[in-house]
Amino acid sequence: MPSHAIQYTRAHRERYLDELKQLVSIPSISAQPAHKADIQRAAQWLVDHLTSIGMDRARAWPTSGQPIVTAEWLRAGDGKPTILIYGHYDVQPADPIDLWHSDPFTPEIRGDDLFGRGASDDKGQIFAHIKAVESFLKTASALPVNLKFIIEGEEEVGGPSLDPFIEAHQADLAADVALISDSHMLRPDLPAIAYGLRGLSYIQVEVTGPATDLHSGSFGGAVYNPIQALAEMIASLKDRDGRITVPGFYDKVRPIDADERAGLANVPFNEDQFKREAGVDRTWGEKGYSVLEQITARPTLELNGIWGGYQGEGSKTVLPSKAYAKISCRLVADQDHHEISQLLQEHLKRIAPPQVRVETQTLHGGHGILIDRDTPAMQAAASALEKAFGNKPVFIREGGSIPVVASLKHMLGIDTVLVGLGLSDDNLHAPNEKFHLPNFYRGIEASIHFMSLIGDEQ
Ligand code: BES
Ligand code: MN
Ligand code: MN
Repeated sequence: MPSHAIQYTRAHRERYLDELKQLVSIPSISAQPAHKADIQRAAQWLVDHLTSIGMDRARAWPTSGQPIVTAEWLRAGDGKPTILIYGHYDVQPADPIDLWHSDPFTPEIRGDDLFGRGASDDKGQIFAHIKAVESFLKTASALPVNLKFIIEGEEEVGGPSLDPFIEAHQADLAADVALISDSHMLRPDLPAIAYGLRGLSYIQVEVTGPATDLHSGSFGGAVYNPIQALAEMIASLKDRDGRITVPGFYDKVRPIDADERAGLANVPFNEDQFKREAGVDRTWGEKGYSVLEQITARPTLELNGIWGGYQGEGSKTVLPSKAYAKISCRLVADQDHHEISQLLQEHLKRIAPPQVRVETQTLHGGHGILIDRDTPAMQAAASALEKAFGNKPVFIREGGSIPVVASLKHMLGIDTVLVGLGLSDDNLHAPNEKFHLPNFYRGIEASIHFMSLIGDEQ
């Protein structure tokens, strides 16, 4: 009975929150090798926790990267559908640490929010589902559905371990639908289901000019400076209308049709709030598209970092040998990240002046996706969210990337329901990340309703 599970949830909120704080206090930073042991500790914490709430076969699988945690509860029987819940226990680095108002790994509650690295992305969001499962198992000794968890530890670095793992464990991971909470709602009272995610293609460029750093007095004026060459190349990647100039870049982009445009125009997206959160007075982007379309339904190209030459204190007169940049493209459904990565690298080599040498490498990538909105699972999620949050969810596209969604579709043939529990001001990947606790508690209840609705269908 969902009502018993809900009562149990409400009675145990304080303990649920304490446990979430334990998980958030583990600095499971996948990008930093120094935190390898913490990553392992977080994986083991989850295995122990999943076992303690009554999940079967909880274990951490070693991979060439970070461990993958799985667990299952398949005792609802063959007649009941199976839900696969994905999440990630790794977090972004906490830097710049000086800007945090409390220690990133000493979770602190201020007002209605829990502050800590990973609180929202993704520990708090995945933990809501774990607690929904506990609330069922502690009250009914059973779940209304068969359920599997897969929780990875290298999502934040676009790690290579997950896809081969899914490929190798197709039968173990087989399910009717996947459920992921690793995205946003629009407001605390307005839930959202994302039906689109952008993909990602991330490259690094190295431009070499002279064989070694040179005295800029003796050589400057007659040697092509690699930083200048890189700056010119980069400046040419977008035209004045904000369109990307790489030939072929837009070839496979699915245009936004009139229906969808109308749907997105109805999303209560607040442009002033967007500007406030971004800390900018004016927006800038591809001409002919609304801000919401620009950040969710259109591909883009961003510089993540650029460096080279002297960066220390004071001045040093040097004509450097090398210049570097990290460039990423957010892609939309149908764009192939391998293809875009190749187009971009070829283009950079083609436009480089002949006096410099360009080397490039792909850092990582993932496919974007559009998910069918007219499925029973989407309807169940919409009702579940309405019950828990008091308002019908809006359907949105997200600009961020969760590459596993495309992998689950392509390798296991299953659709994902993306029920975001984060808020746009949660400071993901930034200082003072937080998770809004009312979303945690309502998220647990939404998950309980979702499982019962899906379970009742059969
Ligand atoms: N949870 C985010 C993705 C996200 C953010 C989805 C906001 C929707 C709204 C995820 O942890 C993430 O940060 N993904 C990376 C991709 C990865 C391959 C490095 C991203 O989007 O940059
Ligand atoms: Mn995430
Ligand atoms: Mn993230």
